[in-house]
Amino acid sequence: MRVGVDYYPEHWDESRWETDARLMREAGISVVRLAEFSWCKLEPEEGKYDFSWLDRALEVLHREGIQAILGTPTATPPAWLHQRYDIYPRDARRYPLGFGTRLQRCLNHPVMRRYSRLITEAMVSHYAGHPAVIGWQTDNEFEANLCYCDVCADLFRQWLQRKYGSLQALNKAWGTIFWSQEYTNWSQIPLPWVARCGQSHNPSLWLDYRRFASESTVSFQREQVEIIRRLAPHHFVTHNLMGLHDSLDYFALAQDLDFVSWDNYPGGNWKEAGHADLAHDVMRGIKQKNFWVMEEQSGIPGWEYIGRRPALGQIRAWAWQAVAHGADAVVFFRWRSCLYGTEQYWHGILNHDGMPRRRYREVARFGEEMNRLSAELDGTTLRHQVAILSSYEQNWALQIQPQVNGLGWWEQVRRFYYSFRRLGAGVDIIPIDADLSQYRVIVLPSWYILTERDAQRLSEYVRQGGTLILNPRTGVKNERNVCRTEPLPSLLREVAGVEIDDYDPLGTDENRIRLRTGEEFTVSVWADALILQGAEEVAVYAHSIFAGEPAIARHRYGRGTVYTLGTYGEPALYDTLLGRVLDEAGVETMPGVPDGVDACWREKEGARYLFLVNLRGEERSVPVPGCVTVLLGASPQGGMVNLAPYEVGIYRCS
Ligand code: GAL
Repeated sequence: MRVGVDYYPEHWDESRWETDARLMREAGISVVRLAEFSWCKLEPEEGKYDFSWLDRALEVLHREGIQAILGTPTATPPAWLHQRYDIYPRDARRYPLGFGTRLQRCLNHPVMRRYSRLITEAMVSHYAGHPAVIGWQTDNEFEANLCYCDVCADLFRQWLQRKYGSLQALNKAWGTIFWSQEYTNWSQIPLPWVARCGQSHNPSLWLDYRRFASESTVSFQREQVEIIRRLAPHHFVTHNLMGLHDSLDYFALAQDLDFVSWDNYPGGNWKEAGHADLAHDVMRGIKQKNFWVMEEQSGIPGWEYIGRRPALGQIRAWAWQAVAHGADAVVFFRWRSCLYGTEQYWHGILNHDGMPRRRYREVARFGEEMNRLSAELDGTTLRHQVAILSSYEQNWALQIQPQVNGLGWWEQVRRFYYSFRRLGAGVDIIPIDADLSQYRVIVLPSWYILTERDAQRLSEYVRQGGTLILNPRTGVKNERNVCRTEPLPSLLREVAGVEIDDYDPLGTDENRIRLRTGEEFTVSVWADALILQGAEEVAVYAHSIFAGEPAIARHRYGRGTVYTLGTYGEPALYDTLLGRVLDEAGVETMPGVPDGVDACWREKEGARYLFLVNLRGEERSVPVPGCVTVLLGASPQGGMVNLAPYEVGIYRCS
């Protein structure tokens, strides 16, 4: 387990490097990520590589015992390359997104591909034998290549040709007879360019374009990974993902990586702010194994505007929270706040003045603790009995047709995730291809696109004794994004023991449902009226045209159980219903963890470790069941421990 920092020696005078490296070592830092934005310095002129500055920086770091991960620098192609070739991506109006920031490259452009391979080959050959280099980060924070240039249009058409074989098959699959769109030549097929007055493209074309744009990024990365594997087979390859970012199929991207890394800024800048716990679990689920945090917030965030300073102790608490959720390394972003450029106010561990102040001391405290506990915690990971299935493709299909407010993918995941966690159950977020048999309860958020294969896997899971929870809009479409004709939930009808007779897209309007056990809850977003076909009624609607009709049903199928939820409710509905589901399925929980405390278990053969992280500025009292040894933090008294604000406790438990 490692503590690291993102370091940009190219931003500073060389005379400073030794001080930096010494301060890093003294803070317990043993790994740095370098060079991911330094193409113009690594190849100042076409074909003339200059690694001398990076060699000197590595030498200084290596002398202090610090190892390095190098980034392929392809997120920021140099100005000379752009001057010579137009590799700018086009937006949906086909307008070029030019020089001056970063990511100004189309990942499909053959010139970009060529120069990416050349710089990767040059770097990897130069550093394959370097004693300080241990691995590679491909590029930086990949997104799907949602580019609308002519190269992409051509490649998309070729991709479609491979997929459908003939225009006849494509026309049939997409239903292009609608609005007279039948294609008679491949070159007629558009990208989803901005169309007249906000008119929408065919959802089938759109979903294929999203798949293509995601695969384009995966294949761009694959070219770099192949070079690294060939020239430096002893080095690891990773990439820094972005938590809940969803344009790119992370499951596909990560197949080529040894492990995933991600960039965690819990302090309120990006859209996943406040959901670091969920994002960590999403990241662990990508390869169903531990991960690294490649950029961990270490200061005040800010570009043009500046965010809040994390509270004293909060940076350390966030770092431990990452470890609690399965991080094996925490690399802080970044060493020192930069004097120039867009990110002048994205503060690092050190301020602009370079003095070790309180954020440095906080990171150093974490560094000392992490290094001390590393041997003991090494090899531990999280094991859960509850999973939520995740799919980028479902997410895209719901983005193409949101239908109503509240059906968004992450909104659905959050409802269940946070209810399970309030009930004291840890959650894995996994792809449908994962081994499902280890889970007692699985939630299927709207599985809008349902294939025969997925339906079979899910049916088999239930038949073998699993509990499956279905949500509205399951099985509406086939893989072409075309509506199915079977009554909903289409291929899962028999397993669910229900048929959907009618539906009402409520959006923000509300209804009420009444459980058979008497409790009433407010529901919104969507209402399916269920007809029971073997299932039993769990709840009925209280009002509207569906009053008295089943809203939630439960069905025994094989050795397992299916719950069909025909609507979305307030948090208390999930807490009540899922509490019963967890009991019924015999899921182990740790109840009584107060709001604001993140509790996780990491385990290995013969040992279980409880991590408690108080994320709030107030003291919290937390149960510590059957724990014997305090590894970090306050000692429990009578089975409870008091955690001071932003404090952390780690316990070895029997
Ligand atoms: C990350 C990115 C870094 C830096 C940081 C702060 O998303 O990878 O390069 O930009 O955000 O803005």
